[in-house]
Amino acid sequence: MADPTFTPRVFSGIQPSGGLTLGNYLGMIKPAVGMQNSGDFETLYCMVDLHAITARLVPPSELIHNTREVAAGFIASGIDPAKSMLFNQSQVPEHAQLAWIFNCVARMGWMGRMTQWKDKAGKNAEAASLGLFAYPTLMAADILIYHATHVPVGEDQKQHLELTRDIAAKFNHDYGIEFFPLTEPVIGGAAPRVMNLQDGSKKMSKSDPSDKTRINMTDDADTIAKKIRKAKTDPDPLPDAVAGLEGRPDARNLVNIYAALAETTQQAVLDEHAGALFGHFKMALADLAVSKLAPIAGEMQRLMADPAEIDRILGDGAQRARALSAPILDQTYDIIGMLRS
Ligand code: TYM
Repeated sequence: MADPTFTPRVFSGIQPSGGLTLGNYLGMIKPAVGMQNSGDFETLYCMVDLHAITARLVPPSELIHNTREVAAGFIASGIDPAKSMLFNQSQVPEHAQLAWIFNCVARMGWMGRMTQWKDKAGKNAEAASLGLFAYPTLMAADILIYHATHVPVGEDQKQHLELTRDIAAKFNHDYGIEFFPLTEPVIGGAAPRVMNLQDGSKKMSKSDPSDKTRINMTDDADTIAKKIRKAKTDPDPLPDAVAGLEGRPDARNLVNIYAALAETTQQAVLDEHAGALFGHFKMALADLAVSKLAPIAGEMQRLMADPAEIDRILGDGAQRARALSAPILDQTYDIIGMLRS
């Protein structure tokens, strides 16, 4: 558990390197809305634009557009900027300042073991940016600059959150002070791992070259229904128990998405649809997905028509976030012995 002396505080982020997917929504945004509304935490949600440039050069106008669109996605899904601090990372310089300190705490060996680094750098690691290698120390800084105690994420971020705890523990140990909390990952969302619609063994991702593989949060009703109809499945009917989904990744994925959208269990979905063929089940799933997602897409479109208002919200969120991050950076500098006059 996170130390009870730390204020219960949630931080999470999304890279505005592309649009939002159903994976982002179910794996992170939906649980984030739940944590906001529980009233148990202070909540901070962030478009991590400094992270978005680590893997490729995102054209500047695209980066600005994506940052606003992800913000619109958060708000349309239920993040209330009056309750949560919603902002983009680069407007709070303390993230990058603490990341530098953490670059001096984390060890090369720890960083080299990150599976996302290995996947993203691929065979040609020499050509990858230094920022991509250092990505997880910036992520640790995003979290620890607020002394955040809880971080809702999809399963793919688990290793980065373990590293965040390692960095906090090493800093505390090196300086002999219990300063940073050991943050708890919250990976309990209904769908911590939404898979690719054309290949149930791969994660649904905004960076996949094929748009058919994912549902985008901006997709309209027809597009959502079409992508679900064309999703890969197998010829067998739906089983009557979850164990019957073993070895059927595409089938399992659709059942999982259905359960997450309907806020029920996979077993409850199977109780209702056991014996159905996928042609039939996909129609039910398409109706459900459209009823849940199309209103969010509509609201995003409405919000995007007023970019100045989104910018105002992010500016306000950044100002409130800085009121938390600036004193924590000051204390960090004091602990380390950075002279300030
Ligand atoms: P990113 O931008 O790849 O994804 C944002 C969030 O969505 C989750 N997610 C998924 N969940 C379930 N199924 C999927 N197919 C799926 N795809 C994405 C991710 O797990 C994530 O929670 N490194 C982070 C961004 C980040 C961050 C942070 C997160 C930067 N700093 C500090 C938490 C705290 C990332 O790349 O997420």
